[in-house]
Amino acid sequence: MDAAVLDVLVPILYIVAFALFIYGLMGLTGPKTAVRGNKIAAVGMLIAVVATLLRVHHNWILIVVGLVVGAALGVPSARQVKMTAMPQMVALFNGVGGGAVALIAWSEFRTSGGFLDTATYVVVASLFAAIVGSVSFWGSLIAFGKLQEILPGRPMGLGRAQQAVNVLLLVAAVVCAVVAGLGGASELWIVLVLLLAAVLGVMVVLPIGGADMPVVISLLNALTGLSAAAAGLALDNTAMIVAGMIVGASGSILTNQMAVAMNRTIPAIVAGGFGGTGVAASDDGVERTVKSTSASDAAIQMAYASQVIVVPGYGMAVAQAQHAVKDMAKLLEAKGVEVKYAIHPVAGRMPGHMNVLLAEADVAYDALKEMDEINDEFARTDVTLVIGANDVTNPAARNDPSSPIHGMPILNVDESRTVIVLKRSMNSGFAGIDNPLFYAERTSMLFGDAKKSVMEVTEELKAL
Ligand code: TAP
Repeated sequence: MDAAVLDVLVPILYIVAFALFIYGLMGLTGPKTAVRGNKIAAVGMLIAVVATLLRVHHNWILIVVGLVVGAALGVPSARQVKMTAMPQMVALFNGVGGGAVALIAWSEFRTSGGFLDTATYVVVASLFAAIVGSVSFWGSLIAFGKLQEILPGRPMGLGRAQQAVNVLLLVAAVVCAVVAGLGGASELWIVLVLLLAAVLGVMVVLPIGGADMPVVISLLNALTGLSAAAAGLALDNTAMIVAGMIVGASGSILTNQMAVAMNRTIPAIVAGGFGGTGVAASDDGVERTVKSTSASDAAIQMAYASQVIVVPGYGMAVAQAQHAVKDMAKLLEAKGVEVKYAIHPVAGRMPGHMNVLLAEADVAYDALKEMDEINDEFARTDVTLVIGANDVTNPAARNDPSSPIHGMPILNVDESRTVIVLKRSMNSGFAGIDNPLFYAERTSMLFGDAKKSVMEVTEELKAL
């Protein structure tokens, strides 16, 4: 196509793409519009890719091979991924973005002959992209390994020396970047930048424990966005700048929201410490007893309640119990019981995990109540049914200053008149700590797989 035509057409296509990104992102604010929003943003990305390729005059074979390999790996894995493995998938896809940005920076170094006669802003943007992209790639791989349980979920690090080592690595990476940026330096320097940033990425994520992992993934996502925007600046590509800034901004907002929901500050999370200590609080040697109940008793309690609050957690996702829960709720509602769902912002393993599962089972959106909206209602609720949730109901977060999750906002399930907990054993949840709720006077445990237990309760309800 004629260069003059492209000069007009490409920016127009980019503007259309940005409009679609933003419109798509608006759709992601609610489950009803999320799928459509995602499709709209994907169309925007397709337009941006086509517009970028319009200017390419060489290396077509490499580009086509890249597209085919990427699609062959990405499409089946995205289609087959289980809802429970979604956070790992996000970590991996995010990491690949950071890795691509780091490689772009390296390639810029090479094509400019080591940044000879290169504008300062391009050099600075490229080196920023190299460091942040590499941190993001390697950090995301470690996050993936932890969530996929290839690596231990507990914090692993150098203890007190960790922060000093991290600062040293960052300073060393910046010094090498300055040498590489002065022009005409050997390629060794940019490789050193990438390697030091890689070790930094690994060192930053390894000491972070399980319960903080969602915040870390979101933070890495924001970093990938920022590094992509910097790479866009270096390549003079508006689409990359805008898309990178959207990812950077939305990732930062999400990171902050999650940190607030877990009552952690972002620097405290990155410095390591909280989460996944693996120490059970019950290791104090005190023997406690738990009451177990049966499906028929649980059904009777709920059938005669005026309000039941369902508290879903990660175990509901594992058991894929959402449809069974919906069926049970329908029967209860037919008996005049009001059923509400209390959704903790970090219940499950990713933001919105419970909303997505319950929406999939066609639970009315109005019945889903956020933590702040429902927390005062527990005290006047007859039965609270906890389905595979643990940490998000742990009263130690409120009452025990020595608890690793102390200060994390929780659902006030323990204030309910009676509590029935569905889980398979007395095992701890993601944070690896015991839950005093299970030993409380008003609590009884219905042991077993959540889906099986809910279906048994439903059968008992039918018989009442
Ligand atoms: P968890 O505290 O992880 O507890 C889940 C419970 O489900 C476990 O105690 C487990 O007990 C039970 N369970 C597992 N499979 C089950 C099955 N098939 N049937 C019945 N129960 C089953 O979950 P939560 O309360 O949802 O809290 C979420 C935790 O994950 C928080 O610590 C949060 O910080 C962290 N986290 C959240 C996210 C986001 S953004 N949502 C991401 C990563 C981590 P049994 O083994 O005894 O059955």
